[in-house]
Order: sequence, then C-alpha cells, then structure tokens
Amino acid sequence: MVQINENYLKLKNRYLFSQIGEKTKSYQKSHPDKNIIRFGIGDATLPLTPAVISAFHKAVDEMSVVSTFKGYGPEQGYEFLRELISKHEFEKRGVNIFSDEVFISDGAKCDTGNILDLFGKNIIGITDPAYPVYVDTNVMAGNTGNLQENDQYEGLIYLQATEENGFCPEPPDRHVDIIYLCSPNNPTGVALSKTQLSAWVTYALNHHSIILFDAAYERYIQNQDIPHSIYEIPQAKKVAIEFRSFSKTAGFTGTRCAFTVIPKELTGRDSSGNETSIWNLWNRRHSTKFNGVSYTVQRAAAAIYTPEGSKEVNELIKYYRYNTELIKSVLKKKGFSFWGGIDSPYIWVKVPQQITSWEFFDYILNNLQIVVTPGIGFGKSGEGFFRITSFGQHEDTMEAIKRIENWEWSF
Ligand code: MLT
Repeated sequence: MVQINENYLKLKNRYLFSQIGEKTKSYQKSHPDKNIIRFGIGDATLPLTPAVISAFHKAVDEMSVVSTFKGYGPEQGYEFLRELISKHEFEKRGVNIFSDEVFISDGAKCDTGNILDLFGKNIIGITDPAYPVYVDTNVMAGNTGNLQENDQYEGLIYLQATEENGFCPEPPDRHVDIIYLCSPNNPTGVALSKTQLSAWVTYALNHHSIILFDAAYERYIQNQDIPHSIYEIPQAKKVAIEFRSFSKTAGFTGTRCAFTVIPKELTGRDSSGNETSIWNLWNRRHSTKFNGVSYTVQRAAAAIYTPEGSKEVNELIKYYRYNTELIKSVLKKKGFSFWGGIDSPYIWVKVPQQITSWEFFDYILNNLQIVVTPGIGFGKSGEGFFRITSFGQHEDTMEAIKRIENWEWSF
C-alpha cells in the first residue's frame, strides 16, 4: 500500500473558509426563504472593470489567429506584465525592483504555500491570528509537530497579535528563521507603520532570517505612514519576499492573477554553509512545477496600469471603502469595539459578550442571517473576535447594517 504524507493527518478537519461555506449552505438549506448576507470570506463582488474586460476580449481574439496565437508562455510571466509591475508598483514608490525579480502566479495563497518548497528545517514564526494558509502549509510541509491541547502546533513560534500590542507584535527576543508578516493584516485589518516594519527588517538582518511579507491588501492603504511594500524599508531586499495579488486590487478572485517578488540578493544557506540564491531556487521551481498564468489573464491584469484601468480600479476600491465606513458606523453606534477598516477592507470586532467566536458566528447567522468569520479560525489569539469584510454589494451591506442596527443585542 502507498504511504501517504502523514503531516496531512495533523491538520484540523477542514479549511476555515470551507467550514464557513458548509455551515452557511446547511443553514440556507433549512431556511430557504432567508436572505443570507455574506461577510465571511473576502471575495470580490464587483465585476472586472471595463478596461480589464476589453483587454481580456482583445487577448482572446488574439488567441483565435495563427499570427497572434500563444502556446506555452514563460512560466515566470510575460515580460509586458512584469515590467509594468516593476514600474507602477515599485519604481513609482522609489523602490528598485527589476522585472525579472517579479514572478507572475495564480495567487498569493498558492505562493505563500509553495514557497516552503525552497526551505529546509527552520524555526518558523507566524503571527497569531493569521491567514490560516500560513500555518496549514507548514503543517503539510512537516515543519511542525502535532496539534496540542491549546490548539497550537508544536514547534511553531506564535507571535501574538493582541489588543494590548495593537495587533502588531514586535520582533521576538529569540531567534526565528522564517517570519510571516501580513500588512495590511488579514484578519485584523491593522497595518504596520514604517517604524514597526523597519524593526522587523532590522531583526531579520541581525538574525539572517527571511520575512515572507504578504501585501495582498496593499491597495487599501490610506495612511501616508504605512509602507505599501516592504522594500520601501532600506536593505529589505536582503531579507524579504513579497506576495501581491490582483484579487482584492481589481476583482481577480475568480480570474486568478498574482505576483511574488524575490530579490536577487536574497540568500539562504545549504547544510554545508554555502550561500545560495533564493531567486535561483524559485526560478527553478516555477519552471518545473508551474505552467504560468494564461496570456489572456495577464493581458487583463496589465490593463489596470493603463490610465482608464487605473481610474476604474481606484473607483472599485472606493466602492468597498464606502462599505467599510458604513459598517464601522453601525458598529460604533451599537457599541462594538473594533479595529482595522482604515487601511484594509477587513474590520476586526470584539465579540460583545462572554461567548466564543463560533458561538457568535451561529448567533448572528441564526438571528440576523449574516455570515462573519469567527476569529478563532485564524488562530488561538483570534478567540473573542470576529472579522467582517467590506467586499459586499452596497445593497447587501445596507441591508446588513439595518439588521445590525435594529437588533436588540443581548446574550
Ligand atoms: C479571506 O477571506 O481571508 C481571503 O479572501 C481568503 C483568500 O484570499 O484566500
């Protein structure tokens, strides 16, 4: 009989968002007349913008003609998109990222998981709460022991993000090799200031660590003091990999396009102590295990850098931001304590009474037909909180707000 990867047996039963999806489906099945409003998974609800659609159509047409047809593309991404990213996402912010340091992919979720292929045995530090993919993929890769009674995995270093530290943990006073940071943060919605991020870069330089920096929500930053890229911090190219996505920026959650930046100067060591380029390893992995994102999708993504595309994407972000403001105002009115929702589409809310975050999930689904994400799903320190997303349609958001406003909040 074939031997399986037993690390998978250490995982909790279901992926957080599948579990929420199942619970919601089962509630809808038993209450077919109820209109459920989904504030759970952060999924785009606005369609792709006109400039993106028109570029997409044009590229599809190109695929129908021999002279413009494209077969296998470069696994790393087409140069036209890599160059646009280098210029618009980095050069315009005074950051020097070469186009060949940008690797186009089908998602930041996949890349934050796949990157573990490159690393051996390391001490891994993950903020808690965190996007569940970081912990789960480390479990799959065999970087942890078993799930302990306290609901945390043996061998992982959990960097607690709590109300006391403003949900921004400081670098630990012990050594960690690989550090996961997400800013603006999923789930807390809080973003790291330049000073806070600099402290992490300094730590990584001193400890020869690598920071895996997830900036998927970068477009939602409003505050001038919040870096959009970790590479805005001097010397960060020596210690950081950055993950970005077109999903929340331009509604590509279903279309799939993202990118990861691996600077050429980033290195690790083999077991004999020889310094090795991480870029080389990722390039090798990408060429072998990935076939690239389709030409049509890359053309569609490139359209967000045209003047019209960029204007449309700004409007899209504004639309979701307006939802955030509406949600925050009703939460305030009803006396909830909450964080985030300024530089992020996520609002992190304290469960109003002494009940667990899953109990609150059930309560609000059963009584108000609203789906939120229970904080515990993002880790132990998420207990006592829930997350609301702003990615709904205005009409749904208004309706949810009405329900929250009119509800007598007693437990
Ligand atoms: C979330 O809701 O946390 C995200 O939408 C999940 C994802 O991007 O994979």
